Amino acid sequence: MSEPKVCDKCQGTGWLLEDAGGSQVAKRCVCFDRRWKKSLFDQARIPRRYQNCSLDNFEVHNPSHRDALKISRQFVKNYPAQDVGLLYIGPCGVGKTHLAVAVIQELVRTKDAACVFYDFRDLIREIQGTFTPDSTLSESDVLGPVFQSEVLVLDELGAKRTTAWVEETVFYIINHRYNHKKMTIFTTNYPDTDEDEDKRDSFYKKGGDNLIDRIGVRLRSRIYEMCKVVEMEGDDYRKMAKQASYRF
Ligand SMILES: Nc1ncnc2c1ncn2[C@@H]1O[C@H](COP(=O)(O)OP(=O)(O)OP(=O)(O)O)[C@@H](O)[C@H]1O
Ligand SMILES: [Mg+2]
Ligand SMILES: [Zn+2]
Repeated sequence: MSEPKVCDKCQGTGWLLEDAGGSQVAKRCVCFDRRWKKSLFDQARIPRRYQNCSLDNFEVHNPSHRDALKISRQFVKNYPAQDVGLLYIGPCGVGKTHLAVAVIQELVRTKDAACVFYDFRDLIREIQGTFTPDSTLSESDVLGPVFQSEVLVLDELGAKRTTAWVEETVFYIINHRYNHKKMTIFTTNYPDTDEDEDKRDSFYKKGGDNLIDRIGVRLRSRIYEMCKVVEMEGDDYRKMAKQASYRF
């Protein structure tokens, strides 16, 4: 149901006066909470495609899904009492972005947490865009919400190979967040290991790089320190869904 332009209970002030034993006390009107929640969802920048993703509609098809869902639920339940964020690692279409989005939607819904979603490449592009002379945004316009949000999702870490500048900027962002006890959730489909050949092969659709090749040793080490690793595996859900729809 859409919100009437001006709430007829409080005439848009967000406050109601209530009798309490002969005197009047001011109480927040329900429309205030609704507006607040809506503005939190708007600020979260969740892509349309993922707005329906929730923990409840994440399907468990294998043990790694079960574990990832459990860790995600635990993260929401413990928030804000945990020390580390999450790093979802796995091949294409296993549901990494789904879970990362589901976590922040749940945090907005149940904990009123200010969350922000950014695709790694978009963030870099937006920061670089502020350096052009005709840019209407300053670097701090872009970085403000990235620094301040209580939970930041940085999706597709490593999707763009880092230059020294990118590495330095991302290091600065995540370090600042870590030092201020703000959680960051990453997703990546670059494996972190050379040891497990089979696993590496299953990831190799992206040309054989691993996470260190993409983001550098220093950034990788910092991220491991500040996140719990959630390894996911399985078939590409997009492909499965397409095949299933052909069957009907
Ligand atoms: N286990 C699941 N249950 C329900 N939906 C899923 C599941 N896994 C994936 N999906 C859906 O499949 C689509 C692709 O998933 P998602 O984008 O989360 O994959 P990803 O692991 O982030 O892939 P990529 O590495 O390509 O970014 C999304 O629409 C998502 O909602
Ligand atoms: Mg993804
Ligand atoms: Zn009202």
